[in-house]
Amino acid sequence: MSALKILVIPGSLRSGSLNARLAATAALEIAQAGAEVTHISLADFPLPIYDGDLQSKSGVPKHAVNLKRMLAAHHGVLIVTPEYNSSVPPLLKNAIDWVSRVQDAHETRGQVFRERAFAIAAASESRLGGTRALAALRLILTACHATVIPNQLALSFAGEAYDDMDRLRHPADIEALGALARQLIDVSQRMM
Ligand SMILES: Cc1cc2nc3c(=O)[nH]c(=O)nc-3n(C[C@H](O)[C@H](O)[C@H](O)COP(=O)(O)O)c2cc1C
Repeated sequence: MSALKILVIPGSLRSGSLNARLAATAALEIAQAGAEVTHISLADFPLPIYDGDLQSKSGVPKHAVNLKRMLAAHHGVLIVTPEYNSSVPPLLKNAIDWVSRVQDAHETRGQVFRERAFAIAAASESRLGGTRALAALRLILTACHATVIPNQLALSFAGEAYDDMDRLRHPADIEALGALARQLIDVSQRMM
């Protein structure tokens, strides 16, 4: 059997991003659990705001096609999202919207979402840890026909969640991340 490949996508480009930091921690955890991990930045897939006229005139941008192919090359995907006004940031929503418009000739609609497992996590300075963004992201991915695993991680007070070795400090966060990584690997393996 080929190695299990997991793609990790942080939903923030900000320097010092709490979500990029959590994505890096999660990537390490998933790799330690035995999967091959690719950790990307959406900065490498710059996309205009979705506009149906733009799509009609010029087609889907090549970066959306490349991002979709990146998803297709992996068995599972972890998305780590910031919370903006109780929802996902436009960077992430726009990327998902464009990818959902990529239609390769030999594929059915939504196949790239349907055929792999998705996990979601969020980091925020607030007590809720981005829980509302997770609910929004779960809804969006489900609308795209993705299988989103039940386990998720909302990292509360994320600026203080790490020790000086850059490891998660609180047992509940460590346990939640471990459970998320194990379930993502397990469901991805079953969908291979
Ligand atoms: C437009 C905007 C709206 C925000 N709304 C929320 C919110 O609803 N809940 C929350 O916990 N944090 C909210 N925040 C704070 C972000 O969670 C915080 O800036 C976080 O660090 C962003 O993620 P990043 O560090 O990965 O870039 C908001 C920030 C911005 C810029």
